[in-house]
Amino acid sequence: MYNKRPVADNIFYIGVNDRQKNFFENYLPLPEGISYNSYLIIDEKVALIDAVDIGFADVYFAKIDAILNDRPVDYLIINHMEPDHAGAIGLLKQKYPAIQMVGNTRTFDMLNGYFGIRTHLHEVKEGSSLSLGKRTLTFYAAPMVHWPEVMATFESTDHILFSADAFGSFGTLDGDYLDTRISVERYRNELRRYYACIVGKFGAPTQALLKKLSSLEIQTICPTHGPAWRQEIKNVIRLYDQWSRYEAEEEGVVIAFGSMYGNTQQLAEAIAEGIVSRGIKNVVIYNVSKTDTSLILSDIFKYKGLIIGSPTYMNDIYPMIEKLLSAIKHRGIKNRLYSCFGSFTWAGAAVKQLTAFAATMGWELAGTPVENKQAVFPDKYQEAFDLGQTFANRLISLRFSISR
Ligand code: FEO
Repeated sequence: MYNKRPVADNIFYIGVNDRQKNFFENYLPLPEGISYNSYLIIDEKVALIDAVDIGFADVYFAKIDAILNDRPVDYLIINHMEPDHAGAIGLLKQKYPAIQMVGNTRTFDMLNGYFGIRTHLHEVKEGSSLSLGKRTLTFYAAPMVHWPEVMATFESTDHILFSADAFGSFGTLDGDYLDTRISVERYRNELRRYYACIVGKFGAPTQALLKKLSSLEIQTICPTHGPAWRQEIKNVIRLYDQWSRYEAEEEGVVIAFGSMYGNTQQLAEAIAEGIVSRGIKNVVIYNVSKTDTSLILSDIFKYKGLIIGSPTYMNDIYPMIEKLLSAIKHRGIKNRLYSCFGSFTWAGAAVKQLTAFAATMGWELAGTPVENKQAVFPDKYQEAFDLGQTFANRLISLRFSISR
């Protein structure tokens, strides 16, 4: 029933597509679904690389059975214990009672905590190897990319890196899993959104992993979500390097605003016009009440410039802007050029707080923040337009430091 999808001789992709779930981790929208990737290696010993969400265990087991028939699985390599991958481990243990769980001490603590599994453990350490017969797996710790127990597994015959969440994307895999056989265009934004939301807080650990990987000759990267990378390897590693150094991909500006009755929005429009009038083409305006924070966050990782606008709401920042600020703060995003704006009716508070946010994040504040009382009249519109121009001028002066 299931077609075999080889990664290499006797290595198979056996992941599943989740087209039902609306939210990853119950809060990140999945408009294009997500895949949970697992791989099966057949050698003198049989090894699974990671598992899948428990809701897909039946399809997953059918895929394993279609390849192995009645042959048992000897090892489960657990690169990551988050339940989107590890959910099916309890059922795997029931299906293969003698299966050896391969992980580190932190993996085993979680295996015990989630499943009560305390036996048949095969502990690996940084750089240690496991022979499956002809093939050998070597393990590299990748703590905090995305959880503390995470590791990456390298298969040295065909130079395949099983990278856990690193290099993963949102989006299902439609028809195949390898970047040489499917169009990767639809994954470009979802690769970044996945990074921004899941890994984005952990820039330094990601840099540490990239440093380790630089000594390996990798021909295929097999992550736990989204396409496996072969022809795009250099690109995805370059992007991971940029994002984990909090370096912008392109020159451009995100303007994120909240607005109850349209006045703060008018300031956003004026600022954008000012920026574009100076020749900056990449300007994206987001209404935070309409666009999910994860999509805005993704573009904040993409562009150097960020301008945030908020009305004063109950003597504070607008709630949906608070949500965005919190997401930014959690990721510890560095090196952004920043400004802000806002409106109020009887007493202003939001712009003052948004201005202080620059210092909180260690960002450069470009231009004078614009604060508007009640309706936006032409002089204030002009002030906002001027802020856009000042901001653009500073962005242009930084051109030399943006990688292209
Ligand atoms: Fe895809 Fe951190 O789990």
